[in-house]
Amino acid sequence: MAGIVESPGKEAERLREQLDRHNYLYYVLDQPEITDAEYDRLLRQLEALEAAHPELRTPDSPTQRVGAAPSEKFGAVAHRRPMLSLANAMDAEEMAEFDARIKRFLKSDEEIEYVAEVKLDGLAVELVYEDGRLATGSTRGDGVNGEDVTANIRTIRSVPLKLIKPPHQALPKLLEVRGEVIFPRRAFDRLNAERIRADEAPFANPRNAAAGSLRQLDPKVTASRPLDIFVHSPGLIEGTGFDSQWEFLQGVRQMGLKVNPLSRICASGAAVLEYWNEMSEKRHELDYEADGVVAKVNSFALQERLGEVSRSPRWAVAYKFKAQQAETKVRAIEVQVGRIGSLTPVAKLEPVALAGVTISNASLHNLDEIRRKDIRAGDTALIERAGDVIPYVVRVTKKGHPRADEFQMPRHCPECGGAIVHEEGEVAYFCVNANCPARMRESIRHFASKTALDIDGLGDKLVAQLVERGLVKELDDIFRLTAEQIAGLERMADKSAANLIAAIERSRHTTLDRVINGLGIRHVGEHTARQLAIRFRTLGELMKAGEEELLSVRDIGEEAARSIREYFDEPRNRRAVERLAELLDVAPVAEPAEGRDVLRGKAFVLTGGLETMTRDEAERRILSAGGRISAAVSRKTDFVVAGADPGSKLRKAEQLGVKVLDERDFLKLLEGEA
Ligand code: IVH
Repeated sequence: MAGIVESPGKEAERLREQLDRHNYLYYVLDQPEITDAEYDRLLRQLEALEAAHPELRTPDSPTQRVGAAPSEKFGAVAHRRPMLSLANAMDAEEMAEFDARIKRFLKSDEEIEYVAEVKLDGLAVELVYEDGRLATGSTRGDGVNGEDVTANIRTIRSVPLKLIKPPHQALPKLLEVRGEVIFPRRAFDRLNAERIRADEAPFANPRNAAAGSLRQLDPKVTASRPLDIFVHSPGLIEGTGFDSQWEFLQGVRQMGLKVNPLSRICASGAAVLEYWNEMSEKRHELDYEADGVVAKVNSFALQERLGEVSRSPRWAVAYKFKAQQAETKVRAIEVQVGRIGSLTPVAKLEPVALAGVTISNASLHNLDEIRRKDIRAGDTALIERAGDVIPYVVRVTKKGHPRADEFQMPRHCPECGGAIVHEEGEVAYFCVNANCPARMRESIRHFASKTALDIDGLGDKLVAQLVERGLVKELDDIFRLTAEQIAGLERMADKSAANLIAAIERSRHTTLDRVINGLGIRHVGEHTARQLAIRFRTLGELMKAGEEELLSVRDIGEEAARSIREYFDEPRNRRAVERLAELLDVAPVAEPAEGRDVLRGKAFVLTGGLETMTRDEAERRILSAGGRISAAVSRKTDFVVAGADPGSKLRKAEQLGVKVLDERDFLKLLEGEA
């Protein structure tokens, strides 16, 4: 634009158009044309321009996704057309019956054309666009009235705030679309790992995570979760007509909405069955949960004739995938004590193979759940795995004989015999003994884990012995261990004792984020620890920070701020941290100058060993620079990092033409130089 003087208004408009387009290319089509750094530059230009000329700021500006302040409660939204539900077909026979029923109803001998789609297991929402602008986003609710979650929906990057005008066609006056908000699976695994580390209850499955994220009163929290959406059906549309489901899907895609590329036109009911077979295999490769296939009569005219019965359309059906379930015997119900003393019941199972792995434990979550499902030792139960999630007990299929008594939460800690506290109306039970060996074991395990002090060789069995023999009573005792003490433990030779001492010594030189994470403060996981480390340069400064100050740190909410304060208000913890601070050589964490997100959205696959860092460290650095890690190479992979002795992933990358980086290139990229 050199030489041309643009008015600020024009410039803002041009930037907004560019940003909208690149957002669409990136989040909807998955075909970015510019680098993330270029995108950020454009966004910053627009932000600066809008800051200088606030009157130019429009509600649908790409800078305004996370605009709204937290609300007290969601308002209600009436759907102009009810959001119906789908009837189910249980097996291929019922699918054939569905097809036959439609032909009978329409008195047709011809094959019916269907659109077959993946049934996404997320949260149903409705988006309303008025004159091309996102006016409302709401949940399904009871189908007639939903909740107004507009501010949260706006934070989902694949939801356009403004529709794109398709060529040779006007935008509809009113466009209502329905779709499914999903929580991508890999991001879900990461979120849960982080929550477990921070001693927060993990989400049971991606669906709950999507629902929990969308129903946040503070849109900032929603914005921090990588939600995505697929639009799958029309609501009320005024001003442009579509004649069929297929036309609708293509049409709204052109307007910038994200639709599932796996949807397919099927010339007959038999073709839908084929699609179901294919998708039953493919579902495991998808980065989102899919629980079946939806078949919809393609023609809207035929849909109209078919109408609906009992709140389900006659023209559509859901054919669920077969669940990943197995039956096995519950040997016992045991209680595990967590780091902060919370008691979790676990079902010990007769080992059983399920979706490729052997399962011998299943989570029972809490006492309420055990009561609701009436699970007892000796019963045979149905176990299910949903995606990568911890298996859980669906229901009891055969009661034990004679039947065991109802499971009771212990009154005393199974580890230390100390008192168990249970607050009326709460589901959780806690062991409040700060010296409980189980709590100590969990604390040490966490402190020594890869994302904390990363003490190689300090495994579970060893930790148990150290605690049992009273060698480690506080975290800092780890650094006072001697080779003789360790060599005296079971299954420890002099050599392994020396190795462990060396690993402990190495771990003393660490970074502040690792130490903060390692303390195991409730609600403080890897990410939060990093933000705290960037803000407070030493443990001493962090210890002094008041709740207000903590709240002003990026991504730290009230729960975390309160919990950090509570942790440091406890004299025993303060003393332990002070002692640690003396023993450790802690480097501060700097925020990289050129934006932390140098790898924003880039997908990486690692193969082979690296010289300058461990695999774990490499993953950590990619994630903290905003990148993603995938297990397998696909066309969507941006970079394969190949170290020594790379595996078949390197060949695959070369076949697909994916960019391969050696260790040097990778380091440069991390530094933001490439
Ligand atoms: S069509 C009346 N298509 O399943 C038909 N629904 O029981 C409207 N769902 O809550 C739904 N994937 O949100 C349709 N490809 C898909 C779907 C889908 C998931 C959800 C939907 C609704 C439930 C229907």
